[in-house]
Amino acid sequence: MSDALPTSGRAWHLVARPHGWPEASDFALREAPVSAPGEGRVLVRNLYFSVDPYMRGRMNDVKSYVPPFKLDHPMDGGAVGEVVASEAEGFAVGDHVLHGKGWREYAEVPAEHAVKVDASIAPLSAYLGVLGMTGLTAYAGLFEVASFTEGDAVFVSGAAGAVGSQVGQMARIKGASRVIGSAGSDEKVKLLTEEYGFDAAFNYKDGPVKEQLAQAAPDGIDVYFDNVGGEHLEAAISSFNVHGRATICGMIAQYNATEPSPAPRNLALVIGKRLRLQGMLVGDHSALQPQFIQDVAGWLSSGALKYRETTVEGIENGFDAFLGLLRGENTGKMIVSLDGSR
Ligand SMILES: NC(=O)c1ccc[n+]([C@@H]2O[C@H](COP(=O)([O-])OP(=O)(O)OC[C@H]3O[C@@H](n4cnc5c(N)ncnc54)[C@H](OP(=O)(O)O)[C@@H]3O)[C@@H](O)[C@H]2O)c1
Repeated sequence: MSDALPTSGRAWHLVARPHGWPEASDFALREAPVSAPGEGRVLVRNLYFSVDPYMRGRMNDVKSYVPPFKLDHPMDGGAVGEVVASEAEGFAVGDHVLHGKGWREYAEVPAEHAVKVDASIAPLSAYLGVLGMTGLTAYAGLFEVASFTEGDAVFVSGAAGAVGSQVGQMARIKGASRVIGSAGSDEKVKLLTEEYGFDAAFNYKDGPVKEQLAQAAPDGIDVYFDNVGGEHLEAAISSFNVHGRATICGMIAQYNATEPSPAPRNLALVIGKRLRLQGMLVGDHSALQPQFIQDVAGWLSSGALKYRETTVEGIENGFDAFLGLLRGENTGKMIVSLDGSR
């Protein structure tokens, strides 16, 4: 045990359930008590925490695959930090760990919920992104869920984001015949073709997705990795070749909607084209973890796979980071850094 442990630390609380777009008044950064670790537990000073689109769903009081955030309780989510006190075998002060109690400065966690990570292999924030949950989502969603095979033409939406940017590059590395991406700014579109090696990319704000996709994929697509839903999914269904497969990973265009999405209106095409549209949850694919780490670590070290992160400094900017993610202010994984605080 180290002395001089903190007795309190700041933590973001959800104080009201957003209707539509989240507002600052729905959240509060409050001082919360910090206790010394109990038996078999560690106290962690968080260095980075993750803000993710799925957290918007957790702000609603609805039954889902993860329970909703409780009002007036500290919010949680992926985080990486440094152990500052340990009552758990195998964990020492100074170890870096990945765990699930983000959105706060200090986290007291059971050792079985903390995974040691190595800062000498990759920057610690990468364990929240390219080597973490979003990277595994891309890997599992492309290779396992969509059954990608060499020669497939792949379209990915949200293509400059944490998941999408990895999907497109992994498809290229594994021999896609064509990789097409859509994103929300010209700068992101340029990044896709000039740095990530996509064959074509377009800004979905420039015109109807259906027309832009048809132009970018004149021979159709075999795989669609959906991060967006709505108009994007409708366009993909139109562009699909026979026996096309879609991984339905996310539908961010709908997360703040107060009315159901009118698209896709062309679902009947699924029949004649014999399409497969399959939802996924990354948590179902943990068996792929060792293979994922081995492949991605190799691609990163050879330079075949690239990634970006958008880092927002300071816990006090946690809400702004989350809102920025929903607005598309991030390129690659959105991370909140607490490294410079306290
Ligand atoms: N099923 C799973 O297990 C699982 C796991 C992880 C993530 N996901 C899903 O995967 C998707 C991507 O997640 P991520 O963590 O990689 O986030 P991200 O793509 O890094 O960030 C979200 C991006 O969504 C885009 N966006 C926001 N509103 C949009 C709209 N109306 N239309 C089109 N694009 C919009 C923005 O980029 P632009 O500037 O391009 O608009 C923004 O940067 C999300 O839908 C998320 O829920 C699912």
